[in-house]
Amino acid sequence: MISKITKTFKELFGGMPILAFAPGRINLIGEHTDYQDGLVFPAAVEHGIWVGIQKNGLDSCRLYSYDYKEEFVFDVHSFSPKKGHWANYTMGVVSQFQQAGYQLHGFDMVFGGNIPASGLSSSAALSVAIGTALTELFKLTITKKSIVLYAQKAEHLFAGVKCGIMDPYASAFGVKDKALLLDCRTNTHFEVEVDFGDHSLLLVNSKVKHNLADSAYNKRREACEESVALLKPTYPEATTLRDIPVKDLDKVKQILPEELFTKAKHVITEIDRVNLASNALHASDLKVFGNLLKESHRSLSQDFEVSCEELDFLAEKSWTLPGIIGSRMMGGGFGGCTINLIANAELQNFQNTLSTAYKEKFDIDADFIPVSLSKGAEIVG
Ligand code: GLA
Repeated sequence: MISKITKTFKELFGGMPILAFAPGRINLIGEHTDYQDGLVFPAAVEHGIWVGIQKNGLDSCRLYSYDYKEEFVFDVHSFSPKKGHWANYTMGVVSQFQQAGYQLHGFDMVFGGNIPASGLSSSAALSVAIGTALTELFKLTITKKSIVLYAQKAEHLFAGVKCGIMDPYASAFGVKDKALLLDCRTNTHFEVEVDFGDHSLLLVNSKVKHNLADSAYNKRREACEESVALLKPTYPEATTLRDIPVKDLDKVKQILPEELFTKAKHVITEIDRVNLASNALHASDLKVFGNLLKESHRSLSQDFEVSCEELDFLAEKSWTLPGIIGSRMMGGGFGGCTINLIANAELQNFQNTLSTAYKEKFDIDADFIPVSLSKGAEIVG
């Protein structure tokens, strides 16, 4: 990818660009908890996005997407979001830098990636790669954490998705062979060594992406906020569902209407599951860890209602196959991938059986993507 970006850059703009890389992410467990100040357990993967960038002495920023084979130009002093366009992530991050008081000038940029499926957060990878590249290009003193916050804000304001902090955080702070036990209240993390022994992580790409995903995502977030407002008289200190103890679920059920209760229940129990999963990993108890993945899927599907037929099928079928430790939908939902932990000896059999069953049911060829935990964003050239 690096040589493709450099070659394209030379052809389009001339010169040798600065190169930044930022990875996509997986999440072991802790879904739809980040925007409720909860715990999540993501890790960066090897796949990601590369950005080549160079100052151009102009007022315009000239962008080229290697993957879309498309260009886009905007004026660094005057621009606004363009619905659904890939350039929003660059403009969004540029706008955040400017709002923080940094002076930016025109630049040329080529970017491209090798993220093999949706649900691995290519948008966060892109934003973090751009933030990392701009910091280097303009010799700014900006912390990784600020780049993460700018990337998140860019997604809110320029892409219209009110996402949490997990994706850009994992992309920026990832460490080889480690997962990040991230507290989204303090925005701090512990690095947890992940060694599954003779088991591997395998993503199964459902190859579907239902288009209600963004609006449903924002709606779920609003539902959580509504619950917090209704719980406030009983829990005056609570600012998010993170503040509601899991042992109080019965009490919460008396307060919230059913529709909100099930959503709140997911968030409250999922935060608990992250704690339990991290303890299970610490104790090398894969059985407990796997059951928590399964519980997480059930909760996301039945209580939080962000799964879909295809993901339910993949997870539920996986639970019945030999060698499986755990399987669940991963990320925002409504499509993308399941994450699976499976005995190496059964990997081939698992793929054969699952792909045949999925093909029969949906007439789709699922992709199987082995992942290894990898390092976060950096300047690579
Ligand atoms: C998307 C969002 C994240 C997080 C996950 C669900 O990936 O960008 O902030 O909320 O969904 O866990």
